[in-house]
Amino acid sequence: MTRQVVVMTATLYGGAPGRRVTVLDVAAAKARGERWPMLTAYDALTARVLDEAGIPVLLVGDSAAMVVYGHDSTLPVTVDELVPLVRAVARGTSRAMVVADLPFGSYQTSVEQAVETSARFMKEGRANAVKLEGGARVLPQVEAIAAAGVPVMGHLGLTPQSVNAFGGFRVQGRGEAGELLLADAKSLQEAGAFSVVLECVPADLAARVTASLAIPTIGIGAGAACDAQVLVWQDLMGLTPEPGPRFVKRYADLRGLMTEAAQAFATEVRDGVYPGPEHAYE
Ligand code: KIV
Repeated sequence: MTRQVVVMTATLYGGAPGRRVTVLDVAAAKARGERWPMLTAYDALTARVLDEAGIPVLLVGDSAAMVVYGHDSTLPVTVDELVPLVRAVARGTSRAMVVADLPFGSYQTSVEQAVETSARFMKEGRANAVKLEGGARVLPQVEAIAAAGVPVMGHLGLTPQSVNAFGGFRVQGRGEAGELLLADAKSLQEAGAFSVVLECVPADLAARVTASLAIPTIGIGAGAACDAQVLVWQDLMGLTPEPGPRFVKRYADLRGLMTEAAQAFATEVRDGVYPGPEHAYE
């Protein structure tokens, strides 16, 4: 019994119900060398399932542009569209740290714009932290947001808001570009970021970055050496159509399950089987 309690409290996601995971927990996990999972979430019910499953950090990603709003990139989603999703995820959870993604155009213009957008996500969305994309060009924003008391997560590598500048969804940081990415990661840490996402970068580069930083790296298509791993929940559950990116592992076939359930419902309605007497009121 005692042993079980020690094991529970020594993990990032073993916190007491009702206590949110904080930046201190995340820092302690890095110091212990403990790996942890992060998932996206966009609604209260799903967030609650993931929270109860023990996922310690939930990101309301600008990937909502694609998986919630049906766009073909993350660029079109607005702060007004994301704030209610962040608030829903915060309401649906009691333990996970909720991170709000700053969408394209909501932080690049100025430091003031970045702080104001972050404040909206904290006040209206009830987020616990924010995330933004980029290295050297957003350091003043990271510094200012952190100075305002808002934990900031960085994002390097294939930053989807720059997909047009990259000429497509391509692996980043190969060859000499790897040195720049490493320098960017160190600068983000220096500027006050509490963690950094590394998306679609070579595994050996991600390993070097992870070993060089005191803050955790969160990989997505960045190999096994990162301190944490993140996936979009619909990819992990097999809801998005195949083929997905190489880095996605489908842990369930929700698309198949939902199709079967919808077809079974349709058949029973057509055949007069549903609703049965047990579903009707006297
Ligand atoms: O928007 C998003 O979902 C993300 C993660 C995939 C890191 O940025």
